[in-house]
Amino acid sequence: MSSALLLPALSACTSPQSTFTGAGLEAAQVETLFWVMLVGAVVVWFVTVGLSVYATKVRPGRHSEKTGLRLIVWGGAVFPTVVLSALLVYGLKLMPEFRAGANGPTIAVSGERFWFRVAYAVEGEPGVVKSLPPGGVESANEIWLPVGRRSELLLGSPDVIHSFWVPSIAGKMDMIPGRVNRLVVEPRKEGVYNGVCTEFCGDAHAEMGFRVVVVSQDAYDAYVSAQAEPARITSGPGYDTFMENGCDACHSVRGTAADGAIGPDLTHMGSRLTIAAGILENTPTNVAQFIRATDHVKQGVEMPAYGVLPEADIVAIAAWLEQLK
Ligand code: CUA
Repeated sequence: MSSALLLPALSACTSPQSTFTGAGLEAAQVETLFWVMLVGAVVVWFVTVGLSVYATKVRPGRHSEKTGLRLIVWGGAVFPTVVLSALLVYGLKLMPEFRAGANGPTIAVSGERFWFRVAYAVEGEPGVVKSLPPGGVESANEIWLPVGRRSELLLGSPDVIHSFWVPSIAGKMDMIPGRVNRLVVEPRKEGVYNGVCTEFCGDAHAEMGFRVVVVSQDAYDAYVSAQAEPARITSGPGYDTFMENGCDACHSVRGTAADGAIGPDLTHMGSRLTIAAGILENTPTNVAQFIRATDHVKQGVEMPAYGVLPEADIVAIAAWLEQLK
């Protein structure tokens, strides 16, 4: 029975979205904590269950009442209390370490139904958004981090509780309206990692993901400088169509008249790996498909579908957005 139950759990370990494929200091600490807890729990289980089984098998009168009482007190109460207390202290000791020793950039990440707003610090200003202190350069659903540095993430939310988790790097940490939770993360290996929202937050909760891109410090600096620039193409048929249809009511494209603050900032949308909060690869075809039928691509999404627009308009908008690198 147990092996049948374990199979789905073990197959999940082979996906990149796993604490057991650690690429960050915090993920490694969480993995160690898991194994220590598991071993502690198994030892407690064997001792207490072993004693219980022994109690049902033992011949009456084999032990004095005093010996029986001693077994119950030491094996059933003292032993588990000591082991579980030790595990608790170990776990509690780890928690402050997840907020200590920041020596990298400060990045604000806001969980919003159903995507992640990301703001990078520029020239020492803390990067931040809406529910968090002002400043920074905005992007969406993609968090770049310098490898080997302890970056500080300020986590918040303007609507409901979300939760931030990048299994290979760090987390989980709740994103709670009205407060800022700090999480310090130290990625140890360059690469692209999956992150997800891990607090049920509405219809599209399961489709609220993001990517973490871990690069060298130089590549990180170059990325943030590039993101700080205004949009490269600020006119043309795609832009006109975008404005005529009121896309700017929700979206910003810095360097143009589009300054909506509800949806993702699209200033450098073409540079992102994914669209729709990590669920689709960022290609012109997928962008057009998303505009046409948002709710088909991502059920419960807040952005309305624009399938009523002429096909040429949708293609023009998608083409323009994809050029914004
Ligand atoms: Cu956001 Cu679940």
